Amino acid sequence: MSPSALSSALLAVAAVSRITFVNAQPDPADPTPLVDKHYAYPSGIPYQVDYNTAAIRGPQVGYNICNSTTENQNSMCQTSFVNHIDDFCLWAPPQPNSTIGDTEGQEVAWCTKPGHGTRVMPAGALQGVQLIKTPNYIQIAGFIDQTQVNIAAGDYGGELDPHGADLRGNPLGGLMYSNAFPSNGGNNASYQQVIDWTKCVPSMRLLCLSDIYFSFMGGDAFCMKICDPAGQNQQALCQNIYDRLGCEYNAPNNAQKGVFEVCEGDDMSPVGVYTTNGATSTYYQPPESLGPITTVPYTPTPAPSSNCVTYASTALYTSQPAPTGAATSAGASGAKTTASGTGSAVSPAKTGGAATMGVSLGAGLVGVVFAMAFLS
Ligand SMILES: *[C@@H]1O[C@H](CO)[C@@H](O)[C@H](O)[C@H]1NC(C)=O
Ligand SMILES: *[C@@H]1O[C@H](CO)[C@@H](O)[C@H](O)[C@H]1NC(C)=O
Ligand SMILES: *[C@@H]1O[C@H](CO)[C@@H](O)[C@H](O)[C@H]1NC(C)=O
Repeated sequence: MSPSALSSALLAVAAVSRITFVNAQPDPADPTPLVDKHYAYPSGIPYQVDYNTAAIRGPQVGYNICNSTTENQNSMCQTSFVNHIDDFCLWAPPQPNSTIGDTEGQEVAWCTKPGHGTRVMPAGALQGVQLIKTPNYIQIAGFIDQTQVNIAAGDYGGELDPHGADLRGNPLGGLMYSNAFPSNGGNNASYQQVIDWTKCVPSMRLLCLSDIYFSFMGGDAFCMKICDPAGQNQQALCQNIYDRLGCEYNAPNNAQKGVFEVCEGDDMSPVGVYTTNGATSTYYQPPESLGPITTVPYTPTPAPSSNCVTYASTALYTSQPAPTGAATSAGASGAKTTASGTGSAVSPAKTGGAATMGVSLGAGLVGVVFAMAFLS
């Protein structure tokens, strides 16, 4: 079968049902979905949580035990954190000039500060960050010089979450922890794995598509949301079935370039749910096989927020390495226009009519189509 015939076939399958994929466990040697792997921090974490070496996507490229010996700019640590505006990590590629679509299974943790055994985002990479803490989740959205974290200039990126068609996650074996939820004392003292496992029973596997966290990277912007494991409505609030709609829909926000702020906020309306003339409807993202998304029947608005406290970035990010020169001068300037052109909120452009950030429209297009059809 030619590659294009293969992808058409895959897309046709993709159009039918995501259940087909979620049941696809390629290796009986490691049948446990990533969302069902739970480890106490730090002692319970194995070297690699994904020991599936024979699977179609290959082995986990990094590791999960991360410490001072793994903390450097070549770290392959895949254990990530979302704690505070000065202490969170993004998933980004291990090699320079990569698209998210081509490397979604391999992303490594890039954190705002040392101490987690990971890479550290270079100084100045973050260009504006809004953290909103709501009753049930923490959302972080912002602008980034993505070339500083190895994302190719102009790449619109995609969604990273603990699923994927083979249930091994994107990245494969990626773990997420937080010390910030009230259910955990909220005292920075101990880490809680951010994962929704109580509702994730096999007979309800479709519901498990609703994530407890996701992050979108690309388009010189990012957003992520982690739902409180002890909170309400995680299924709707940290949903990942709208992966082609980007931050504007999945994490409505008021992030601005040059502003670093922490706000309190209400929970957003679940993605896809909207009201017209008093009637509530739910929009579902169409399958990729139907082509680019040209219209969505509603425009999201950020939920009300208040008590925003702004910080100087120099006060928040004090221990970051110097930026890598080449990327700063060449890559970033060409790409930045995309993010700044969208106005204040992180809502990467709907290029060519497609609402993006969930789909790579750049060099990674072929890769991401393949990956989403087969593996996402
Ligand atoms: C530090 O992390 C590396 C890589 O995961 C691991 O091999 C090593 O045992 C760890 N060291 C300690 C002291 O935990
Ligand atoms: C990044 O990769 C693209 C495609 O391979 C290439 O055209 C471009 O020159 C590369 N950019 C940098 C800064 O290496
Ligand atoms: C937790 O850490 C953040 C900074 O990372 C700090 O602002 C906050 O006061 C800390 N909370 C407690 C209860 O120590």
